[in-house]
Amino acid sequence: MTDMTTEQVHDVTVNVNGVPRTATVPARRLLSDFLRHDLELTGTHVGCEHGVCGACTVLLDGKPMRSCLMFAVTAQDHRITTVEGLCDAPDARPCATGERMNPAQQAFAECHGLQCGFCTPGFLTTVTAYLEENPSPSQEEAREAISGNLCRCTGYQNIVKSVLRAAEIRTERLEENAGESA
Ligand code: FES
Ligand code: FES
Repeated sequence: MTDMTTEQVHDVTVNVNGVPRTATVPARRLLSDFLRHDLELTGTHVGCEHGVCGACTVLLDGKPMRSCLMFAVTAQDHRITTVEGLCDAPDARPCATGERMNPAQQAFAECHGLQCGFCTPGFLTTVTAYLEENPSPSQEEAREAISGNLCRCTGYQNIVKSVLRAAEIRTERLEENAGESA
């Protein structure tokens, strides 16, 4: 049995949602636990802890990453975006409630794609990253994009609609931004 009192610890500094954050953690601290417990960013959720459900997905340097499959020490000096940081994205805008939302957040709200607090953060981060790669997905591609995020409670219809709507919103905002800077 490991003696916790003698376990070696490391200072881990990660840029999370644009802010450098440091915590002292054991080498085996998962990134998901580091975010939730050490940094108190509880938007990221843990479902399976085996890389299967996608609930813990965050963006690592803009790419989707299952934070339950990564040690916090491995994220040293990398840029992490959690669901809390999506509203600070350059394409985030104030919505009717006054909160800022990125295109995925706005679309999920409009299309009733929001699910429970466990799976929704993973859907939002996954879709945000996906649209960077495929800005104009077909319905089949949208369904494929979220196939790694598990929810047993829905037929995914509204989530697929949300992905397609998020692509529209994202394109509209990019065009508006380009028009403003021209
Ligand atoms: S908790 Fe990480 S994939 Fe399920
Ligand atoms: S797991 Fe979140 S609504 Fe089904």
